[in-house]
Amino acid sequence: MRKKIIAGNWKMNANPTEATALAKRLIEAGVESDYADVVFCVPAIDIPAVVGAVKGTGVAVGGQNVHFKPSGAYTGEISADMLTDAGARYVIIGHSERRQYFGETDETVNLRLAAALAGGLIPIVCVGESLGQRERGVTIELVRSQVKTAFGGVSAEDAAKTIIAYEPIWAIGTGRVATAEQAQDVCAAIRTVIGELYGSGVADSVRVQYGGSVARDNAAELFGQPDIDGGLVGGASLKEDFVNITNYKARKG
Ligand code: 13P
Repeated sequence: MRKKIIAGNWKMNANPTEATALAKRLIEAGVESDYADVVFCVPAIDIPAVVGAVKGTGVAVGGQNVHFKPSGAYTGEISADMLTDAGARYVIIGHSERRQYFGETDETVNLRLAAALAGGLIPIVCVGESLGQRERGVTIELVRSQVKTAFGGVSAEDAAKTIIAYEPIWAIGTGRVATAEQAQDVCAAIRTVIGELYGSGVADSVRVQYGGSVARDNAAELFGQPDIDGGLVGGASLKEDFVNITNYKARKG
C-alpha cells in the first residue's frame, strides 16, 4: 500500500520570520497526519528556519527548485547539496510556474531530477497541461511525453522513490479544481507510463499527487481515488485550514 503524501507549496510567500511562525501554527493546529506524509516546500531562504520549527515532529521540509550542477558559476541557483545540508529532504522540480516564467523545459526538468536524486533528495516532479491543451484533447499524450523526458536516464530504483505531481495549469490558483474523475484519469495514465518504462513493481510503488485548487472540501474525494496518492497544495497550505487537508479523512474543525 502506498502511503499518501501531502505537500504544501508555499511558493514565494513568507520571509524567514513569517515562515517560522506559520510552521509553528500549522504544527500546533495538528498538521501531522496518521495516514499521510506531510511536507512543507518553502522558499530556499526559509529552509533553516522551518527545519528548526518542525524539529521533533513528523513534518519534512522541501525546496522548490534545484540546479543540475553540484556547484559553479550559476548565479541565483541552489544545489542539491545546499538543500540537504540546510535540512531539506524533498524538492519540487518543473513546477508550471518555473516552466512559464523561468524557461524550464522537459529537458531541464530531466537534468534537475538527476541532480536531485544524485544528491539524495526526494523529488516531486510536476507535469500538467494548459487549458488549451486539454480542450484540444492532447492531455494524456502531453503528460506521457513530459514524464518520459523527465525520467530519461533515471534508474528504476530512483524512479520508485520519485513523486510525480499532476497539476493541470488551468486548476492552479483558479479555484477551478479538476473533477476527481479527470484527476484520476491522468494520474492513472502517469502510473501506466511509469509501468511501461520500469515495470509494474515501480508503477505500483511510485506516488502520484494531484495539485490545483485543492481545498478542505475536495481533498477527501480527490485523495480517495485509486491512483491519487495525495496532493501538492498551494494557496490552502498557507492557512491553518491546511490541517483539514492533511487530515482529510477526519477533519479537525
Ligand atoms: P493552488 O493550490 O493554489 O491552486 O496551487 C497549486 C500548486 O501550484 C501547487 O504546486
